[in-house]
Amino acid sequence: MATNSKKSIFKSKKRIKLGIWGLGRGMSFYKTCASLNIDVVAGCDYNPVMRERFLKENPGAYVSDNDKEFLEQDFDAVLLATYCPAHADDAIQCLNAGKHVLSEVTSFHTMAEGVRLVEAVEKSGLVYNLAENYPFTKANMYLADKWKQGLFGELMYAEYEYVHECRTLCYTYIDGEPVIPGSNVHNWRSWLNYHYYNTHSLGPMMIITGLRPTRVTSLPAEQKLEGYPTNSQSALGGIASSLINMSNGAVVRNLMGSTTNDSHTQRLWGTRGAAKADGGLSLRLGAGNKTKMLKVQPQWPAWGNFADTMGHGGGDFWVLYYFARQILEGEPAPFDIYTAADCTIPGILAYRSSCENGKPFDVPNFRNKKERNKYKKDNFAQARYKIDACFPKSADKKKTDQFSSLMKELIDASERCRAALDWVSLAEDVTEPDGGSEILKRFLKDHKNYKPIFNRAKKLSQAYPKSDGARVLKEMINMSDYKLALKPSFITKAKKVQASWQRQARNLSKN
Ligand SMILES: NC(=O)c1ccc[n+]([C@@H]2O[C@H](COP(=O)([O-])OP(=O)(O)OC[C@H]3O[C@@H](n4cnc5c(N)ncnc54)[C@H](O)[C@@H]3O)[C@@H](O)[C@H]2O)c1
Repeated sequence: MATNSKKSIFKSKKRIKLGIWGLGRGMSFYKTCASLNIDVVAGCDYNPVMRERFLKENPGAYVSDNDKEFLEQDFDAVLLATYCPAHADDAIQCLNAGKHVLSEVTSFHTMAEGVRLVEAVEKSGLVYNLAENYPFTKANMYLADKWKQGLFGELMYAEYEYVHECRTLCYTYIDGEPVIPGSNVHNWRSWLNYHYYNTHSLGPMMIITGLRPTRVTSLPAEQKLEGYPTNSQSALGGIASSLINMSNGAVVRNLMGSTTNDSHTQRLWGTRGAAKADGGLSLRLGAGNKTKMLKVQPQWPAWGNFADTMGHGGGDFWVLYYFARQILEGEPAPFDIYTAADCTIPGILAYRSSCENGKPFDVPNFRNKKERNKYKKDNFAQARYKIDACFPKSADKKKTDQFSSLMKELIDASERCRAALDWVSLAEDVTEPDGGSEILKRFLKDHKNYKPIFNRAKKLSQAYPKSDGARVLKEMINMSDYKLALKPSFITKAKKVQASWQRQARNLSKN
């Protein structure tokens, strides 16, 4: 059992006994548990590898693969990190078992589930928080503080982005282990449309400005990256942008997606000032364009030493802190069930809008019983991909069970071949020779391992040529142009370019 060994942040001597349900992402929150009066006493996951790791870190804790037995144990609160589209019903199970809930994003998958969850929280009288962590980075907490002070005036427009390419996660768990059985793909990352994963971008702008979304629209975006199991735009391999009206009449462009340039850029325009967060934080103040945009250095409001030890720019610390504080001291956390609903609903409705060619939808306020009652039976949801559908039922398991681990290797090999070919073609134009040299160094170190990977991929795709499995294998093989990349003449050229970039980088660092 993980017990208190460090000084407590709270005055209260009360302890919170915590169970973690879902031991992938669920394992990210430990470091500061002890200082937040939290003792991790139980864990639950289907996956034996994850249970074993959990027990290693929490010797003496209870662990199970059975959620019912897990929830029967004696603890106060659940950190819920199960499959994304299952959160509502899983959270309701926890509440029915008398546990407070800190739920991973997003809160629910359909409008009807949202109504059920809100009512279960209200009925239970227990604490429900959404673990949306991106609002609680140093830059975003600073912006929220300054926004409250009026530095930026009224929000006019904002652009928030969570663009994160996660193709490999269709075939592995979050710890990089290939999905089991190997012929399957990931439970939801293999098919979920990115609109449904909208809170990391919308959440921060809601918390900074204190506004709630009121209307949403989204045009269909029909292109997707290669190598995703569902052959349609409806997958995490697509791009999903929506326009959202906020409660003060402002407009926000919320952009999620998986494409070739990850981005967490945030831009806000207020009537008095503007902000841009893109790694650093810059502000333009003065209610017009007479002065320059200047960089600022935000500081933590408090507890920075704890926040700095945690993931997602400190955000993981703050969601756990707010949750513990609400249980111990009764002070409401920023992401209660209603704010969670405000943030989750625009994703569901944006997906629906994109399916109806951009039709706008009002975002109901689930605080209002009459308003939410209209959605009690609204079960609209994206069709799910069958995670065991990549190969025919009759396929030879000995062959198809290598699929998830092969895809992991193939994605890496294909992207590295593609990058080497394309960067060498721009050898004369690169002005960051150090970065270019690193890309080619990795390719040159590993290229000898690639051929067998492509050969295995070809063989498996030929065994079941009409299957989805064959399609994604072929997509990655074609994308890689590996025959060109692995030609001895290209390897010689890549070595020359790498040596030249390395020399340039050394000269630059001397000057
Ligand atoms: N806030 C963030 O920054 C962040 C980062 C990563 C993931 N997440 C969220 O955390 C959640 C979990 O993500 P993950 O990356 O670990 O992926 P995941 O979906 O693979 O993990 C779910 C885990 O829960 C287990 N599980 C699911 N239902 C179960 C049940 N009924 N009984 C026992 N075990 C069960 C699975 O075996 C799996 O290990 C997702 O909803 C994701 O959106 C949030």
